[in-house]
Amino acid sequence: MIEKIVHHPEKVTLEEIAWILANDELNEQLFAVADEVRRKYLGKEVYLRGIIEFSNYCRNDCLYCGIRSSNKNVKRYRMSVEEIVERARLIAQMGIKTVVLQSGEDPYYTREMIGEMVTRIKKFNVAITLSVGEREFDEYAYWKELGADRYLMRHETADEELYRKLHPNDSFENRKAHLLKLKQLGYETGAGSMVGLPGQDDFSLAKDVLFVYQLDADMVGIGPFIPHPDTPLAECKAGELTKTLKLIALTRLFLPDANIPATTALGTIHPFGRQLALKCGANVIMPNFTPSPYRAQYALYPNKICIFENDVACGECTKNLVRSVGYEVSEDFGYRRKAHERT
Ligand code: SAM
Ligand code: FES
Repeated sequence: MIEKIVHHPEKVTLEEIAWILANDELNEQLFAVADEVRRKYLGKEVYLRGIIEFSNYCRNDCLYCGIRSSNKNVKRYRMSVEEIVERARLIAQMGIKTVVLQSGEDPYYTREMIGEMVTRIKKFNVAITLSVGEREFDEYAYWKELGADRYLMRHETADEELYRKLHPNDSFENRKAHLLKLKQLGYETGAGSMVGLPGQDDFSLAKDVLFVYQLDADMVGIGPFIPHPDTPLAECKAGELTKTLKLIALTRLFLPDANIPATTALGTIHPFGRQLALKCGANVIMPNFTPSPYRAQYALYPNKICIFENDVACGECTKNLVRSVGYEVSEDFGYRRKAHERT
């Protein structure tokens, strides 16, 4: 079955993926082959992406998210364009070649403000990834023209019914239209999903795998769902480590050359979550460069790692983490290197 995915992914059915997800006897083989594929296409290199979470204001009310608009216990913050550009300079100075600008969906930042960030940060000779949620299509086009390289917008879940339940006023179809638009505009486009959402079964997760394959996503962020106490999902169970690693490994088999991060959420549910992910197909890590005191306030879920005083420590820490599991820190921009032929 694993061989079939490697050589003929187009023939694999939803049922077959769900079967692998439901049964654990192939896990060791799955993880080993995912690592093999990753080494074949991407070598031992890991790309670092420095992330700045510049605003925790959000107009959305996603049921799982700690910064949802109806959570009144959040201390809200917005960084100024100046502050953001200075943080990006610091990332570039540390030799990290990608700056990720992430926020809640916050219309306070106009197309011109984000455009100014892109223009100024581009001068530091870095790739820029935007992750500011759903915006107007002409805004995406404008930022792309100014030099933005990539856009992260997880599809969250490819189960349409579940998507509707979790996102008041949004639909999976709409999210998909945004992702297709981003691809069409020439962004390296990142989708991805949470594992262990309430009501999600192995078929839903199999749909996530097939969705990113069919989209030909350039990046896929996969992390466990972690219940936040101030949300309607407070009492739900968190996603599991092994299931999340399986999703990452399967995604690597379907998209051998995609950039797949070892996510912070995985590092939050298990002390070696990110290290394990790097061994199961992930090839990217995202050190946090959000300055304090804001960092702790960008609480999408509880107990998020890296909340401490020294707010640039994650740069060195992630480099050490990568080396500790036998991989190398890349000094490259880390664009997707498309493998045109599969063997
Ligand atoms: N607003 C932008 C967007 O929606 O694309 C970017 C920020 S959004 C908060 C970043 C990601 O956090 C989401 O795509 C979601 O997958 C993840 N997230 C939110 N709440 C979470 C939770 N409780 N557990 C795990 N991941 C969560
Ligand atoms: Fe933040 Fe290790 S990555 S402290």
